[in-house]
Amino acid sequence: MTDTPAATASATPAPACADAASRDGSAPLPAPIVALLDGTLVDVTTPIVRADDLGVVRGDGVFDVAHVRERVVDGLDAHLERLAASARILALPEPDEAGFRRAVDALVDAWDWQRSPEGVVRLVMTRGAETGGTGPSAWAMLSPMSPAVIREREGVRVVVLDRGMEAEGTVDLPWLLPGAKSLSYGINMAAKRWAVANGADDALFVTPNGRLLEGPTSTLVVDLDGALRTPAQDGILKSTTLEALFAAAPGAGLDLEFADLRLDDLERVRGAWLLSSGRVLAPITHLDGREVPRSPQHEVLARVLGVPGAA
Ligand SMILES: Cc1ncc(COP(=O)(O)O)c(C=O)c1O
Repeated sequence: MTDTPAATASATPAPACADAASRDGSAPLPAPIVALLDGTLVDVTTPIVRADDLGVVRGDGVFDVAHVRERVVDGLDAHLERLAASARILALPEPDEAGFRRAVDALVDAWDWQRSPEGVVRLVMTRGAETGGTGPSAWAMLSPMSPAVIREREGVRVVVLDRGMEAEGTVDLPWLLPGAKSLSYGINMAAKRWAVANGADDALFVTPNGRLLEGPTSTLVVDLDGALRTPAQDGILKSTTLEALFAAAPGAGLDLEFADLRLDDLERVRGAWLLSSGRVLAPITHLDGREVPRSPQHEVLARVLGVPGAA
């Protein structure tokens, strides 16, 4: 059973959708709202973890992110399952599934869907205080979808970055947490910053031997002469968006399979995408500055994945 954080949470309902200052000077977005696992809403400015929480001081914890639109949280079961799988990899206690569902319900009830119809729900669980005695800290947070992320559904420029180790190696090294969505995303965020500093929007990790892996926050799918292929998930995150695409593929007439994809394959793709829960589907327009065509299968993918605005 997951404890809610020590008595730091305010019992007063959070002011849903108070404005937050935007980072890029565009119109202010509603502020995120937070709920504890007992369903209590907490203002996002209220501290709910201690300064010595291991999630804060060591990134020692797990999280998951689901897309939410007009009260519907996409694939909540899959996200809860992956949160539990990540917790097992980190040898954390089993997440309190009922508590997370309660928190998500509270967030969905409190959100102003008219003002902000689309967002992301984060589920977070840390190992708790370094000095012990608190149990894990756990909460859920609903944030508005960022306009920058929505723009990326039109296309992303991607740079290929060496991840520095082979995929085969990591699968048998549990201390590298292969396949876990851990809170230690510093490297992933650094890769994204590197991409932006070098004129791109996002990155694609590759092993030193040229095996394609995944983006820092996304999964790769390529169109190779009409066949949709995605890197085998050895040591990388199992994407819930990809899982949904696999489920829909036969009905939509899509030929989708895992494959051992290599750097050279990128030179012959007829289209490529980054898939992830919030952005859903982002066609890659450029790889290392070279133009990538838009796949003739783009519209079908957008439709089966339910990209907002897709016909
Ligand atoms: C490293 C990594 N790979 C892949 C994905 C895509 O996973 P999903 O489609 O479940 O969001 C994400 C996003 O969560 C990620 O962070």
